[in-house]
Amino acid sequence: MTVALNTLILPAGEDAVAEAARALRAGGLVAFPTETVYGLGADATNARAVARIYQAKGRPAFNPLISHVAELRAAQRIGRFDDTALTLAHALWPGPLTLVLPKSRDCAVAELATAGLDTIAIRIPSHPLARAILAAFGKPVVAPSANMSGHVSPTTAAHVRADLDGRIDLIVDGGPVDVGVESTIVGCFETPMLLRPGGLPREAIERVLGRALIEPLVDAESDSAQPLAPGMLTSHYAPRTRVRLNATSIAPGEALLAFGAPVADTESASFVMNLSAQGDLSEAAANLFGYLRALDAKEATAIAVMPIPNHGLGEAINDRLRRAAVGRE
Ligand code: TXA
Ligand code: MG
Repeated sequence: MTVALNTLILPAGEDAVAEAARALRAGGLVAFPTETVYGLGADATNARAVARIYQAKGRPAFNPLISHVAELRAAQRIGRFDDTALTLAHALWPGPLTLVLPKSRDCAVAELATAGLDTIAIRIPSHPLARAILAAFGKPVVAPSANMSGHVSPTTAAHVRADLDGRIDLIVDGGPVDVGVESTIVGCFETPMLLRPGGLPREAIERVLGRALIEPLVDAESDSAQPLAPGMLTSHYAPRTRVRLNATSIAPGEALLAFGAPVADTESASFVMNLSAQGDLSEAAANLFGYLRALDAKEATAIAVMPIPNHGLGEAINDRLRRAAVGRE
């Protein structure tokens, strides 16, 4: 049973940081902005607090969570870093990168948070508010995206509220996020593997490594795949409205999610939003989830999405759009 909570919403600031740390210490659930998307945080070392995350999100309990920490030393207490992992951490943290590593022997993170795996996903976010909360709390914080399971990830406090009001203790409002898609996940296995494209382009990681990231043998996010990144369900990012990809024209009644110069027949669209009229992929990533939510509310027959180039942040954008397009009946 989920007890209705009185969800407090505080603007960014010292008071909010102190209240967030207090709520986390008490085993509460706190939504806060990171540079990628808003996260729903809980004390990673408190199994009951972690359990409340799954409950609040309606999330399948086999889905492991990312542990967020403020600094590398804290990360090294919960994960075992080899040379590759250290190289990536030094070059790219803080930032939109999650590393999957073997758990340390005395890892204090609750088994439930790692879904019983012997690996752990760790991230040091760069958002100043996230960092302030992590520093004030002083322990690892697990934080999935702060949305109901299966919904689009939240990029504003209002999105969080729409999904989780009455189900969590606190929302810290730090305004819209910068990046707009979740972190890139790299498995630090014998050969580093791209488990999830995300807010840090693959090219930036490969430059640091001096080699290409390998792909999982199967889609790490598909339901039937062996669980390398086990929680990543194919339909994870689905809006309610059907999503049609690579649209080069639109049917009457469809809403259009454009990129660059819109397709010719936009007059017949029921609604048009442009991810980036200039064709800028970072602007498109930042707008993606908010625009999907907005178009989903328009009662269109479908959301037609124009093609988006697959380099840089385009890889993560196309990944999320493909998942949004998978039928959910
Ligand atoms: O940008 C982000 O990463 C956001 C912000 C809040 O930090 N968080 C986020 O968390 O996207 P979530 O829970 O929505 O996605 C975490 C992903 C899941 O797909 C999960 O399967 C994968 O990380 N994961 C977690 N632990 C793992 C592990 N030990 N091995 C492989 N994949 C893991
Ligand atoms: Mg998520």
